[in-house]
Amino acid sequence: MSHISTVTMAGPSWQEVDAGLIAVGVYKDRSLTPLAQEIDKAIGGLINQGLAMKDIKGKKGESHFFYGAGKLILVLGLGRKDKIDSNSIRIAAGAAARAAISRKVGSVAVECFCSGLESCQPMGEGLVLGSYQFLDYKTKDEKNFELKSATVNEIGKAVCFSRDLSNHPGNVTTPTRLADAAKEISDQAGMELTVFDRKEFTEMGMGGLAGVAQGTDEPPKFIILEYYGADKDEQPKVLVGKGLTFDAGGISIKPASKMDEMKYDMCGSATVLGVFKAIAAIRPKINVIGIVPSTENLVGAKAYKPGDILSAYNGKTIEVLNTDAEGRLILADGLSYASKHYEPEFILDFATLTGAVLVALGHIATGIMGTDDGLITRVKESSKNVGEKVWEFPLWPEYCKQIRSNIADVKNIGAPRQAGTIAGGAFLKEFVGENIPWVHFDIAGTAWGVKPDSCNPKGSATGVGIRLVLDLLGV
Ligand code: BES
Ligand code: MN
Ligand code: ZN
Repeated sequence: MSHISTVTMAGPSWQEVDAGLIAVGVYKDRSLTPLAQEIDKAIGGLINQGLAMKDIKGKKGESHFFYGAGKLILVLGLGRKDKIDSNSIRIAAGAAARAAISRKVGSVAVECFCSGLESCQPMGEGLVLGSYQFLDYKTKDEKNFELKSATVNEIGKAVCFSRDLSNHPGNVTTPTRLADAAKEISDQAGMELTVFDRKEFTEMGMGGLAGVAQGTDEPPKFIILEYYGADKDEQPKVLVGKGLTFDAGGISIKPASKMDEMKYDMCGSATVLGVFKAIAAIRPKINVIGIVPSTENLVGAKAYKPGDILSAYNGKTIEVLNTDAEGRLILADGLSYASKHYEPEFILDFATLTGAVLVALGHIATGIMGTDDGLITRVKESSKNVGEKVWEFPLWPEYCKQIRSNIADVKNIGAPRQAGTIAGGAFLKEFVGENIPWVHFDIAGTAWGVKPDSCNPKGSATGVGIRLVLDLLGV
């Protein structure tokens, strides 16, 4: 991973700041931020000239470079002063980081535009997220310039950590590697880590994960991270993430085109591990459990087949009608395990579950559905706070009936070509204990492939959901 590690906040003594690039701001009413005014004076009013010539308009996303006082100066458009929110700050800070990379400047200083906001959090996030580049497989040359320069925003770092896990290909980010990442996190903060291997979880009755994993030799894992920051008898919040490290579809094989993208089918687990990475650094006073069922879904002589019947950890039987609807099978065990062994205050699950959510919402919003209106409201609030869009789908009984099987308790697909995302949610609901508030996040459209912006580089996983969950947890 490559991301910025030192952020200096530029203050009045900007001339002493040891940074190659200084970023300041201009609003849409053409007023300059305090530091922009000072710098403008020092460089002979050049910024004001740009304004007078109407070249600088102060629109969101705008950027202009100036040279003066021995520095490279970046003037960022911030949009309307009365509409400044965490999102615009994050985007502006991300733009400063990306500008530094494009100009090959190793360190950047940014004026704090956050007055009026509760914290400088979005500023730090934008700087770190904007500086993220996935260069691990690029042989270093001139073109691959990294922004260097320690005290950085732990949440931004956790998102970058998560993006890395997802961006590595399937032969690197294996279930074993996810378990290693969980070990690294648990060691950092003294969390409890349990990893069940194929033999163990099969004997325990996790027939969903065992069934999907039948077709691969790569060792599958069932990973549990336990963080107790509060009294142990306080109910934990449980996060479950789909850790499908490569999804070929199984016997119901996928088409070749874009199959490579199915390395990203573990992004749900990367969200959960990303949240734990931040928790390990910040140590909030809450209890949180993370559960990651992880395997590949391949074709092979031992692979599970359409028509097979599997029995999940909660004892329910599942008729497999499509081996490519595998995420819900491994999550069935994850959700059942969470419901049986903890008394969760709530469960949230994250999964790149359906192509259908992309049809419905594109790469813009995460599809959510759940069993508890209060929890859904909280999710929507956090979504607004952090600028990660969610959209709710209904789990009405008419939909829930569509996953009933003729010969088993449930089947793993719904009505053909209808409401595929809801069918996924309706299936998962069968494995959540009665009365446990639960929300499912289908991140198949938002975990990667989004339109690049200053906080999301092209061709990278996004780490979606981490900031939303941390906000919801009050971290
Ligand atoms: N991992 C896929 C979902 C997916 C597809 C994510 C495309 C991102 C882009 C999931 O395992 C899957 O294959 N789902 C099937 C379900 C269907 C067989 C009911 C799908 O969406 O086609
Ligand atoms: Mn699949
Ligand atoms: Zn999948």
